[in-house]
Amino acid sequence: MPLTHKAIIKNLNPATRELIPNIRIVFSVTSTNDILLLEKPTQNTALFTEEQTKGRGRLDRVWISPPHTNIYFSLAWHFKKNISELSGLSLIIAIAIIRALKSFGISHNIKIKWPNDIIYDNKKLGGILIETTNLKSDSCLAIIGIGLNVNLENAESIDQPWTSLKQITGKNHDRNMLAALLLNHLCEVITEFEKNNLTHFMSEWKNHDALFGKKIALKISSEIKSGIAHGINSQGALCIKTAKNTVETYQIGEVSVNYN
Ligand code: BTN
Repeated sequence: MPLTHKAIIKNLNPATRELIPNIRIVFSVTSTNDILLLEKPTQNTALFTEEQTKGRGRLDRVWISPPHTNIYFSLAWHFKKNISELSGLSLIIAIAIIRALKSFGISHNIKIKWPNDIIYDNKKLGGILIETTNLKSDSCLAIIGIGLNVNLENAESIDQPWTSLKQITGKNHDRNMLAALLLNHLCEVITEFEKNNLTHFMSEWKNHDALFGKKIALKISSEIKSGIAHGINSQGALCIKTAKNTVETYQIGEVSVNYN
């Protein structure tokens, strides 16, 4: 079934409809993030598409976006905060996706790999790409791009271990219902984040942290930092216990991990 405005709206909470007054679905775009970054909508806006011809991931990766298969969307959200106060945003968006998947009946083994990869059984199920622009000194616009592998069966061109809800459960899933649940949970979590901060989500993060206690290597440009993952700090930075038993924190980088 194609994505439709009617089928998404049907399952939205009244609060979500108020918080995101503008919800659009298009057939094909380069990247939903690119469109909203250019447009800078004045109201909170969700833009869904059936396919992306230039879907982008973190660290300049391509996000493979075949038509009618998965969920690809961006949410433009206005924050009454300076960009510098949004350091934990990408982490709490991952928590919103986990909550949405749980409410959809899929919770077993779904984890977050810092900073915000949604993984199942050590394979990537979804990803988040957030791009922010300051509007004034006390307000900014975040473009929150989310890709979730829903009914994907084959994708030889994905260059990392991946999975989809179809692979996990053996059946196709209703993307309209999932889209609505994602928006509902995003609104709930972002509102909680606006009132509190990242500390409010710490226990939820711990429950879904794919890395805690694992031997990891963090790549920052050409440097590699190795150690044991030790959760996150109040700013969302990754904590690594080194061989000298000190804890170092890192805001950026790409983690490789031996899950065994
Ligand atoms: C990642 O894990 O590297 C992030 C992937 C983000 C993909 C989504 S799909 C919708 C939005 N538009 C894009 O071009 N990227 C994000």
